[in-house]
This record gives sequence, structure tokens and C-alpha cells, in this order.
Amino acid sequence: MDNIVILTGAGISAESGVPTFRGPDGLWEGHRVEDVATPEAFDRDPVLVQRFYDARRAALATVAPNAAHRALARLDAAWPGDLLIVTQNVDDLHERGGAKRLLHMHGELRRALCTGCGAAPAWDGDLSGDPPCPRCRQPRLRPDIVWFGEMPYHMDAIEAAIAGCDLFVSIGTSGAVYPAANFVRWAEASGAATLELNLEPSAGTPLFDSARHGPASLLVPALVAELLAG
Ligand code: APR
Repeated sequence: MDNIVILTGAGISAESGVPTFRGPDGLWEGHRVEDVATPEAFDRDPVLVQRFYDARRAALATVAPNAAHRALARLDAAWPGDLLIVTQNVDDLHERGGAKRLLHMHGELRRALCTGCGAAPAWDGDLSGDPPCPRCRQPRLRPDIVWFGEMPYHMDAIEAAIAGCDLFVSIGTSGAVYPAANFVRWAEASGAATLELNLEPSAGTPLFDSARHGPASLLVPALVAELLAG
């Protein structure tokens, strides 16, 4: 077992107090996803969308990495082979937990994207109120979030890592959103072992070689201990 790819979703941050997307009421923080997480929603009501993400960004200050984030950071620091953590999450809990080999495929709350010049500056304040882009000075910043219908980031690097991995682990994702939901199929095609960790069986569970069910804060540290023990 040399090379590992780990895909994470909202479930790994749930025990830190970050709400998942697909709760029982089908709403994300009181909104339908299509009202806040599409380019069309931003065109229709930019103030609503900016305020929504401003609130999510501000809420990062009230949450902290949990044992699962910290365990993955330990694995990242100690694992001698290739390792890549691919997160669908837009929070910053993996990096605050200490992870280094990390890609945010759906963007980051703490970054803005200028629709004028393409700059993607680090951003900790609000975007409502239309502050100017630090590079081109135009007031054209949006959240640097990959919305539905947009192309996820880093796909070439992710595909290459999956093609070369021996173990693919999916943690806390419902498997409802593509292309991430297909990574397990790509991993299987490249001959990797596949493992799902989730609170409960997901739509994708039958696609994995094996699955473990329970909270990420327990399952992830246990898996990391096993991997580091060889
Ligand atoms: N431990 C492990 N898994 C958990 C926990 C927990 N404590 N709590 C919840 N889960 C699992 C749920 O069972 C569910 O399968 O996490 C998953 C969360 O699923 P979603 O809310 O659909 O989140 P995710 O899969 O990350 O969503 C993917 O959808 O809206 C888009 O772009 C957004 O990145 C997001 C993408």
C-alpha cells in the first residue's frame, strides 16, 4: 500500500458544527441549493447569494477542526508514499487541522474570485457591499465557490492521483454530486482498493470494496492508526 487518495465531504465537518447539505428537510441553512449555489441564482439575486456566503464565511470563526481532520493531518505528515486529500468542503478545517497535501475541488469560502480579471485573492471579510478587487480595483468579486453547473477545480491533478493510487477512501460524502461521486469508479478501474467511511450507508456504498459506518471522529482516527501501524 503506497499511494492513497482520500475524498472528503460535509460529513467530516459535521461534528465540528458545520451543517451538511442534504439534511432531512432538503434545505441548506434554510435555502434551496438552487437559490444560492448556481450562477443563475447569483445573476438573479447577487445580494442574497453574497450575504449567504458571507454568513458561512463568518461562521468559520465559530468552528474548529475535529478528531477526523486532525487524524488526516497526522497521516499526511507521516505517510511516506503519495497522498492526496481531495475535499468537496469549502470550509478551512482540513488546513486548520494541519493537512498540507490538500486540494479544494469545490473552492474555498476564504477566497474571492474576480469576474473581471480572474484574480482569486484570499478573503476573510464580507463580499456584500461590492468591495473592489485588490488586483484590478473593479467591484466584481464573487465567492470562489464552484457552483452547480461549473467545472470543479484541480481535475487533472485529481485524475492523475486516482490513476496512481492503491487505496481510495471516501469520508462523509453522500455520493450525490458528480464528478466526485465517480471517483470510486475511477479508483476501481485503476486497481485500487476502495473504502467508504460514513455515518450510515450512502447511495454509493455498494460501489466500494468495503464500508465502515459511524461518526468520522471515531472512524478516521482508527483508520489512520491502522494505516500508520502498517
Ligand atoms: N461522520 C461521517 N459521516 C457523516 C457524519 C459524521 N459525523 N455526519 C453526516 N455524515 C454523512 C452523511 O451520512 C452524508 O452521507 O455525510 C454525508 C453528507 O452528505 P451531503 O450533505 O450531501 O454533503 P456532500 O456529499 O459533501 O455534498 C457534496 O454537494 O451541494 C454540493 O458542492 C456541495 O460539496 C458539496 C457537494
